[in-house]
Parts: sequence; C-alpha cells; structure tokens
Amino acid sequence: MAECTIKGIIQKLATYRKELIFGNMLAILATLLVVVIPLFIPLIVDELLLGKDHHFISWISEHLWKSDTKGYVIAILVFILLLRLLSTLLSILQTKIFVSISKNITYGLRVSLLDHLKRVSLKEYETMRVGAVTSKLVTDVETIDGFVSTTISKLIVSSLILLFSSVVLLWIHWQLALFILLTNPIVVLFTVKLSRNIGKLKREENRAVELFQSSLSETLELFHQIKAANKENYFFKASEKKAKELKEHSINYGYKSDAAMKLSYLIFLSGYEVFRAVSILAVAYSDLSVGLMLAIFSYLWVMVTPTQDVINFQYVLATARAACKRINAIFEMEQEPLPQVRKDPFKGHRAVEIDVRGLYFRYAKSCEDEREKNEDEREYILENINMRIEAGSKVAIVGASGSGKTTLSNILVGFYPFEQGEIRYNGVSNQEIALAMIRENIYLILQHPKLFNDTMRFNLTLGNAYSDEAIENAIRIAQLGDVIGRLENGLDTLVGKDGIKLSGGQRQRVAIARMVLSNPKAVIFDESTSALDVHTEAKLFEALHDFLEERTVITIAHRLSTIKSAEFIYVLEEGRVVDSGTPAQLLAKDESYFSAML
Ligand SMILES: Nc1ncnc2c1ncn2[C@@H]1O[C@H](COP(=O)(O)OP(=O)(O)O)[C@@H](O)[C@H]1O
Ligand SMILES: [Mg+2]
Repeated sequence: MAECTIKGIIQKLATYRKELIFGNMLAILATLLVVVIPLFIPLIVDELLLGKDHHFISWISEHLWKSDTKGYVIAILVFILLLRLLSTLLSILQTKIFVSISKNITYGLRVSLLDHLKRVSLKEYETMRVGAVTSKLVTDVETIDGFVSTTISKLIVSSLILLFSSVVLLWIHWQLALFILLTNPIVVLFTVKLSRNIGKLKREENRAVELFQSSLSETLELFHQIKAANKENYFFKASEKKAKELKEHSINYGYKSDAAMKLSYLIFLSGYEVFRAVSILAVAYSDLSVGLMLAIFSYLWVMVTPTQDVINFQYVLATARAACKRINAIFEMEQEPLPQVRKDPFKGHRAVEIDVRGLYFRYAKSCEDEREKNEDEREYILENINMRIEAGSKVAIVGASGSGKTTLSNILVGFYPFEQGEIRYNGVSNQEIALAMIRENIYLILQHPKLFNDTMRFNLTLGNAYSDEAIENAIRIAQLGDVIGRLENGLDTLVGKDGIKLSGGQRQRVAIARMVLSNPKAVIFDESTSALDVHTEAKLFEALHDFLEERTVITIAHRLSTIKSAEFIYVLEEGRVVDSGTPAQLLAKDESYFSAML
C-alpha cells in the first residue's frame, strides 16, 4: 500500500539528486554573492571615512586602480549592484528548478492517490464522502507541496547563510560572535514549543474545509430533489453552518499561527537589540572598529530571514505531517481484492454458466467504529443462496421489493466480495477470478442508469471506439432511433447533467444500447425496462431476441410480461430462495406469485 510519510517524500526527493545538486549550487552561489556585501562596510567606513589603516584601499591603488574616495565609493556601489543583479538572476533560475521538482512530486502523489481510488471497492465508495476525498486531493496535497518546496529551496541555503555569517562573525570578533551564536539557539528552542499546536490547528481547519465541501457538493448533486421537496432552506442552511464552522477554524488557525510567528519574531528582534547593545559596548571597551560593528549589524540582519526560515520549517513540517495523516485516510480505503491465481473462465465461451453455492452476504455498517462493535449483529441480506444457471439459459428472479434481487445481481457481476459461499463461472471459483474480469463479461443493466453530461454518442460508447454500424445496430436494438432522431444534433446532442434531457425510459434504453455495444457473454436486466410502456418493451425484447439467443440472460422484473419467456424462475423472499421452477410449474403450485405482480 502506498502511504504518505515525510520519509517517503524525502526518498522521492532523492531521485531528483542531480537537479537538486545543481539547483542548490545555483542557490549557494546566489547567496554568496549577496552575503559578502556587508564586508564592504568596514572598507568604506574604516578605511575611507575614518581614515584608519588603509590595508585594502592602498593595495587596490597600488595594484589595480588609483582614485579618490568618491571614485572608490561609486566603484564599490556599482560592484555591489552588479552582485545583487547576478544573484537575483541565479535565484530565478534556481526557483524554476525547485518549483518543477516540487510540482512533480505532488503530481506523483496525486497520481498514486487516483490510482488507489480507481481500485477502491464499491463497499468503500458507498460510504465515501466525495467532497472529503476531493478536498484531500486538493488542499492537503497543496500543503505537501508547500513543505517540499520550502524544504528543498530554503533549508539548505538558509543553513549555509547561517554558517557563513557565523564564520564571518567569529572572524570579526570571536567573543561577540560566540555570545550571539550561543544565545540564538535559545530563541529557536523557545519557538519550537509554539509550533506544536499549529499542526493540530491546521488539521482542524482542513477538516472544516472538507466538511463544507462535502456538504455543498451533496446539496448541489441533489439540487433537483431538494427543490422538489421545497427543502432549499434546510439544505443550504446546513452548508451555511459548515461554512460558519470553517470560518471559526480558519480564524483560529489564521491568528494563532500568525501570533506564534510574530512572537518568535519578537523574540528574535529582542535578541537583535541586545546584540546591538553588546556590540556598541565592544567598540567602547575593546578593539572593535566602528566599520566592523556596522558589518556585524548587517550580518544580524542577513541572519534574520534564514533564522525565520529554519524556525518556520518546524511549522511547515508540522502541517505537512498533518496533511499526510489526512491523505493516508484515502490510502487506507479498502481496495477490491486481487486473486492470487488469475484465470479467465470466459475465454472461448459464448455464454456463461453461473453456479451459486451457499452464498451469504451482508452489507458493512457505514460507521467505522460501529463496524467493529456489531460485527455479528449485522443481518444477512442474502442467506444460503443456491442457483444453477446454465450457459445460454434464460432465467428470471422474482421477489418483493427489498428481497435482495439488486444485491444479488451486484454480487453476480462482482461488485461486492462476499464472506461465505462460492460462485462458479464456467466451473471456475470466484476466488480465482479478478472482479473486474467478471464485470467485463457479465453485464448488469441498472434500473436507474447514470448518464454523463456529455453527448449521446459518448453515453453510448463511453469513450470506446466502435464502428458506425455497431452503434447504429445498438440504437436499432435498443429502440432509440426515434429518440435520437428527435434530438437537435442527433448523436452529438449533449444530454445534460445526469441525462436530464431524457426520460427515465429513454435512459434505460441508452443503458441497453451500451450493453449491446459491450457485447457481453451474460446479461442481467435488473428491472431495466420498468420505465418502458408495455408496447415499447415488447418491441425491445423482440429486437433483442437474436442478440440474446446464445447468451446467458437473467431477468429481474415485477411485470409478468417481462419474464413470461423465462425458462426457469427463482423466487426470492427476504434474502432466501423460497421457490423455483419453470413458469408452468410455479403457476400450477400457486397462482398468487404472478397475480401479485400483475
Ligand atoms: N448499499 C447498501 N447498504 C446497506 N444496505 C443495503 C444496501 N443496498 C441495499 N440494502 C438493503 O438490502 C436489502 C435488499 O435490497 P435490494 O437488493 O435492493 O432489494 P431489491 O432489489 O429486491 O428491491 C434491503 O433491505 C436494503 O435496505
Ligand atoms: Mg432492486
């Protein structure tokens, strides 16, 4: 299982070794160019202004260039400006390198999250809050990005600036430098304490974002229903409440993290004032020159940003840890099991024989901890189901609403793994077949098929390349010709959100056309023609007759007309098969099965 850890991120970073080394070399060069600038102060102040011993100036006038004070000051100014310009150019280049590394790493993280989501089991999906997942993929991955980019672009350079400045300070006046360097860590230590709570606050804020996002996306997804029930106020109020909670958490995080940063800055500034006073004392009572004192002041300023960076690194690390923790909730989502041995029992067969033996199934509780507690109290939705569906046979399953027909169809096509029992497809146990392979060969047509807000053509092909003849054939079989003929742009008409422009019966026919195109070896109709009028349904099954001839067909329906042609019928009641037989046998036993349906 993939996982988001700080260690893992660092290991990923290591794969960019070459770029990192090059980028850091640029960064170090850029830094060196500006960090030496304060060293010109003693040159100007002590040698040129105060006229102390002319070490450098006399060397320069002898060997390089003779000029007066004005000339030297202007020359030094031009030189310093050039240094700054060059340093800026180098750091722009360096940022470009670092940004592309950090974006590549976060892209990789998103890809592996999407990869995991792709194989998440339907069971997990049913309890997943979509908004929560999307917010993790956006907000939390951004946080990781911030961590990566500050780590690689600032940490090394900042440490180097601190090191360089320390060396220079020691060289200028070692007693003063020692004082500064020993007191500085106390400042840093103090601020570590402040960072502890910031990670927790950030996590709370991100969680509030997640709750707001999932509440809003659910409201918008169900907008139609909500309007129909006149419940706009209720649902939008709920989102508003989440927005309010988000506001409170954001205020909390916003000002407290800012306060923590400002407080550590205050401590640093106080330290700076103390160092300044001590330096002045050093000038008064030791041999420190005024120019060198001013250079020390400059270095104290040079050290501000890197010290801040090093201090902030703790916050960035804390928030990155929090983000990883939340991202891992996605990686922990259960995936569809992949069987050890993978066989293909469908290859070379035109139809599928399905043999269900002693199948038991129950849904998981949606709440995590409840799942643990009531493991044994969950009731079975399907109990001891035994069915033998011959290859190429036409079987019907009937039963009252809630008797488990849809659940059983979902299991037969491999949407849910089950605890007990076995299903053999062409004689091979489900444990030896990948669920995805079952779905490839057995097609389940849902009662309420979902449509994409795309063209009619896309909704039929789902992006697969089919020939025009194949598409026309599917349209003809599914009785969609008239429907598409009436659309303004024919196959290229957009069907609207969730196919809103089509009626329920038309959507069901789109699903049937999809099934025809995918050319499965077995088909399960789960009340898939319930929204059609009897006349269209009859025409549809007539057109489907040849197509279904050699395939295995399982039909679930309430209407007698839909199942009257079945060769064998199973009757389901409260998750159990209570009766079975040919239509004639069942009718002979008890006419009420069918009269209830009519
Ligand atoms: N995803 C689910 N999670 C939990 N319980 C479910 C889920 N889907 C269906 N059920 C329950 O399983 C039982 C059988 O449902 P279903 O298979 O849809 O029946 P049918 O299709 O015969 O009307 C019902 O009691 C229903 O409440
Ligand atoms: Mg159903």
